[in-house]
Amino acid sequence: MAGLFDQIKIKGLSLPNRIVMPPMATGMATEDGEVTDRHITHYVARAKGGVGLIIIEHTYVSEDGKAHKGQLGLYDDKLIPGLRRLVAAVHAEGTGVIIQLTHVGAAASRNITGGQPGGPSEILHPRGSEIPHALTVPEMKTIAAKFGEAAHRAVAAGVDSVELHGAHGFLLCQFLSPYTNRRTDEYGGDLTGRLRFPVEVIKEVKTRLGKNMPLFYRFGADDMLEGGLTRQEAKLAAQQLEQDGVDVFDVSGGLGGDGQRNHTEQGYYVPLAAGIKEVVQVPVIGVGHITEPEYADRIIREGKVDLVAVGRLLLSNPDFPKQAAVKLGIKL
Ligand SMILES: Cc1cc2nc3c(=O)[nH]c(=O)nc-3n(C[C@H](O)[C@H](O)[C@H](O)COP(=O)(O)O)c2cc1C
Repeated sequence: MAGLFDQIKIKGLSLPNRIVMPPMATGMATEDGEVTDRHITHYVARAKGGVGLIIIEHTYVSEDGKAHKGQLGLYDDKLIPGLRRLVAAVHAEGTGVIIQLTHVGAAASRNITGGQPGGPSEILHPRGSEIPHALTVPEMKTIAAKFGEAAHRAVAAGVDSVELHGAHGFLLCQFLSPYTNRRTDEYGGDLTGRLRFPVEVIKEVKTRLGKNMPLFYRFGADDMLEGGLTRQEAKLAAQQLEQDGVDVFDVSGGLGGDGQRNHTEQGYYVPLAAGIKEVVQVPVIGVGHITEPEYADRIIREGKVDLVAVGRLLLSNPDFPKQAAVKLGIKL
């Protein structure tokens, strides 16, 4: 079995090791969502530290999908040159780089977007500030197209691929969750219905990616909320998403699990990821307070996950990967 410092090739993407920097919002973008020099310094430091893949923080695909101030955007061609600079700087260190695309949906705040949020149904989001309107089918088609356009811009900027944000209560997660999706049309109801919109987005995005670019999906594999998506149903959803074109599952919490607060247990979402790995053929990323190199290496060797994401530790210690190699006796 491969270990933490073994290379991995996922379709056309070759990574020097299995340590991933998961998407982490920095709040460093300009008002318009543009990349700043601070982003470049921030990500290049982690690339120099030896991480194998950087997933750039969540980036809104349309202005009504913006979550917070300082968020990166990719809703307009004017945002391509900044991203191109960032991607080139990371690539210069030999590190892979993809970008997470997102829409905040029902959890939008009027202060940020200037309008009423839209989501699958008129149900208050657990983190929402007001009841959203139920998106009409034409509105949903527009959003799906915006995801596709943003993917196109990302590719034009030179990324190795993109990740769709389908976790932590963002729009794709809202559609899959029976808690927020109470629609009675073909976009609600059973699993196939609730997956219909995420699958339409996947299709839009896939046509914009290069043929050999693997599509990553941040998958909320448990809503951790009464009335939400269960682990059992999430496994079935993952199988369907795999069939519909997901090439890598980056497993995290769903509607009620933003995954970053008050968890101190080593690998707290790894069992969730291992459960998804049992039912899919494609690579799976595990995350959740992974801080010990031996643990990270072991869960890969045991076949629980294929890659590990190290979040907050990389924020405080960009050199973690290099130090981990020394600790494991690996010569880089
Ligand atoms: C400051 C911060 C910002 C985050 N932003 C995002 C994000 O943009 N997209 C996302 O999917 N997860 C986001 N997360 C969750 C992380 O990707 C990761 O799953 C989480 O921090 C758990 O990993 P860790 O325990 O190694 O930090 C964020 C986490 C933190 C701490």
